[in-house]
Amino acid sequence: MPQDTKDVPEPQAICSPITRSVIYIVATLAAGEAHAAKVRAWCEDVAALVRSVGKRVPSGNLSCVCGFSASAWDTLFGAPRPAQLHAFREFGEGERRAVATPGDLLLHIRADQMDLCFELATQLVGRLGDAVTVVDEVQGFRYFDLRSMVGFVDGTENPTGREAVDFTVIGDEDPAFVGGSYVLVQKYLHDMSGWNALSVEEQERIIGRTKLSDIELDEAVKPTSSHSALTTLEENGREIKILRDNMPFGRPGMGEFGTYFIGYARSPAPIEQMLENMFVGRPPGNYDRLLDYSRAVTGGLFFVPSASLLEQLAER
Ligand code: HEM
Repeated sequence: MPQDTKDVPEPQAICSPITRSVIYIVATLAAGEAHAAKVRAWCEDVAALVRSVGKRVPSGNLSCVCGFSASAWDTLFGAPRPAQLHAFREFGEGERRAVATPGDLLLHIRADQMDLCFELATQLVGRLGDAVTVVDEVQGFRYFDLRSMVGFVDGTENPTGREAVDFTVIGDEDPAFVGGSYVLVQKYLHDMSGWNALSVEEQERIIGRTKLSDIELDEAVKPTSSHSALTTLEENGREIKILRDNMPFGRPGMGEFGTYFIGYARSPAPIEQMLENMFVGRPPGNYDRLLDYSRAVTGGLFFVPSASLLEQLAER
């Protein structure tokens, strides 16, 4: 339900503007109370570090969102726990599976230039020191006109403005965590030779949009298995959206071509429903053919406290 945003604690920079560069970092917590205390103290430093690094290039749009896994929340902060926070749920099987991989802390660092992301990541990870082990780090870049690695414009149907806030920021449904959000991430690797061997028309039927002009295919020709069909959800006649900021990444010399998926919502449920539709199919078997050319190699679900709660967590 739409909510009145004026009384909501300031969310973290979930709805920040589109930027050119990103670093996604996933880390696991080291065992022991001393390490937990270090991470709690760090929570209070995050905003100041973003300000210090960001002020050096005021036009650079530097931002950082921090999230915590269910088990990290219990270890670090205990009760109360965000109502919908749980371990990443896997979907699918065999080759086509949304896998869960280790990860307690997520950093989503965005800016218009990589040096800002790099400097902030260095400062944030440096302060965490031996309290965490980074298990995945991906530097992503904006690819021409907001295109994904598979060549289609990505992010077109994202909600914007007030609608983006309504779909991503927790309201009265979880009073202790108003202003928070949930974020789900997956690192995908693509079989670009296979994908590029398809005709543009075949690719368009897989995505559900035209490649060059990014227009949705007509309902009469758009397959129910298309990516855009399977990720469109309706509840009581109203579309339920999530906010994505996927970025391409890769190492052409090593044959690595990837998309880092990141989706924010005020409950994990719609993102999980999309995953089920993509990996299992709607109905089962009618799965997302993009997955014949894309393999999820990581998966994590995190809670994003409001900016004010993040600072207060240091005192828990
Ligand atoms: C739409 C790419 C994974 C959710 C799109 C579009 C592209 C795209 C090109 C069409 C333009 C747009 O509206 O953004 C990809 C790639 C992925 C990926 C390359 C990784 C291989 C996912 C996952 C989810 C998701 C894992 C959710 C769990 C959505 C949603 C839309 C969308 C909600 C908008 C659908 C609509 O309203 O028409 N994606 N996507 N995507 N994708 Fe993905």
